[in-house]
Parts: sequence; C-alpha cells; structure tokens
Amino acid sequence: AIERTLSIIKPDAVAKNVVGKIYQRFEDAGLKIIAAKQVWLSEREAGEFYAVHKERPFFKDLVAFMVSGPVFVQVLEGDDAIAKNRELMGATDPKKAAPGTIRADFAESIDANAVHGSDAPETAAVEVAFFFPGLNVYSR
Ligand code: CMP
Repeated sequence: AIERTLSIIKPDAVAKNVVGKIYQRFEDAGLKIIAAKQVWLSEREAGEFYAVHKERPFFKDLVAFMVSGPVFVQVLEGDDAIAKNRELMGATDPKKAAPGTIRADFAESIDANAVHGSDAPETAAVEVAFFFPGLNVYSR
C-alpha cells in the first residue's frame, strides 16, 4: 500500500554534509520526498517527539544529541514506505547495520545514528503531524 513515513536526518549526518546523499537513497528506492524542512529542535520539542522513550535510560542523551545541531525532517511517500525506509536505514546500532545501509555508511554510534524513521503506520501518522501539521494523512 502507498504509505507516508516521517524521516529525520540527525545532527551528525547534517554536520557530515551527506543530506543529499541520503535523499538520493530515498529517491533511488522509489520514495518521494513530499515535504521537507530544516529545523533546530528545542529540548522541549525533542523531548516531546521522543516522549515514548521518556523512561528509557538513554532518553537524556538522546534529547541532548538531537538538539546539538540542526536536523532535516521529511515525509517520504511510496509503496510500503515505512518498511522500505527502515530497510534503507539499517539497524538502530550502526555496528549491527547491514552493509550498504545508511547507518552502516554514515553513522558512528547508537545515538549519533544518522537517521530516524517511523516504525509503524500509527507512529508515522503521529510523527508526520508533529512536524507537518498541515499535511493531510489518510489511513484509507
Ligand atoms: P531513533 O530511531 O531515532 O529512535 C530512538 C533513538 O534512541 C534511536 O534512534 C537511537 O538513536 C537512540 N538510542 C540510544 N540508545 C538506544 C537503545 N539502547 N535502544 C534504542 N534506541 C537507542
């Protein structure tokens, strides 16, 4: 099915100047960038975005990292976009990411892991609305 997913290029990858290379991978996989912007998140915004992880031991470091520099946020649309984007990203821990994935090629650590992608249709809808409240998202 045609889906939309929320993608974030994190501060480490923006600092490395590989935004275009990562966009190319989305496009080569048939994912269309239907919305995009650069933002520098506040601690409050980063904490709100990652609220599901609030009780996890890595939450504080995660928020600190996400506000350490600007990020690029985009909505990707295409057939099976959520799973396709997760395949392109590779495992959360770059050390475990398959060769040729974005995290294997551009990420340094589990926090500085280059990209974020929604993990399910429900979270995708919430995450897209968080950054692009004007975008209409329909589940049917
Ligand atoms: P992301 O897909 O953005 O979602 C939450 C982030 O928390 C994750 O990528 C990692 O960058 C970060 N993180 C740090 N430690 C862990 C961990 N042990 N498990 C999962 N995510 C972690």
